[in-house]
Amino acid sequence: MSAIQPPTSRYWWKQPLDRVEGTWIAIALVWCLIMFFMMPYWHIFGKQNLANEAFRTTPEAYQKRTQDMVDKYTVRTETDQKIPVVHPPAGSDVYLIARLWQWWPLLELEQGKTYRLHLMSMDWLHGFSLQPENINIEVHPGYDHIVTLTPTGAGTFGIVCNEYCGINHHNMASKIYVVP
Ligand code: CUA
Repeated sequence: MSAIQPPTSRYWWKQPLDRVEGTWIAIALVWCLIMFFMMPYWHIFGKQNLANEAFRTTPEAYQKRTQDMVDKYTVRTETDQKIPVVHPPAGSDVYLIARLWQWWPLLELEQGKTYRLHLMSMDWLHGFSLQPENINIEVHPGYDHIVTLTPTGAGTFGIVCNEYCGINHHNMASKIYVVP
């Protein structure tokens, strides 16, 4: 039998299962089951356990809460666009706005402290990709998406947008500072 000519026997599918084929089906099934049970296992025992919350809200309300945080806790500004760098108190709610084509503001967090990081888009779908940790979250308009996070290492972490959002998608990058 070849893939070009039709099979010589019309009932080729009635032939018994070949041993090699059966072995591969068994291997694939076992691997699927391993991956299936890894999901709950990782959810309970993994260190990067993204058990998130999401609430409906409006861009105006979210903008206001972000602005309140910026007004209270800005420690400096960066670049000629004067992007505020915000150092909120340890353990507090911190807000990050995604919009065409920017993450705003810059956050400065403390190592080993737990924060509730809020993410929301002001316009349409963006993707929050935290590098090099490889944490990826879709950021939707109309939903306040909350990630409880504890930075375990100090340094500068990159944020890139990983959902295509138009002509300047590739420029939609930012960073999070983590200080000891
Ligand atoms: Cu925002 Cu791509």
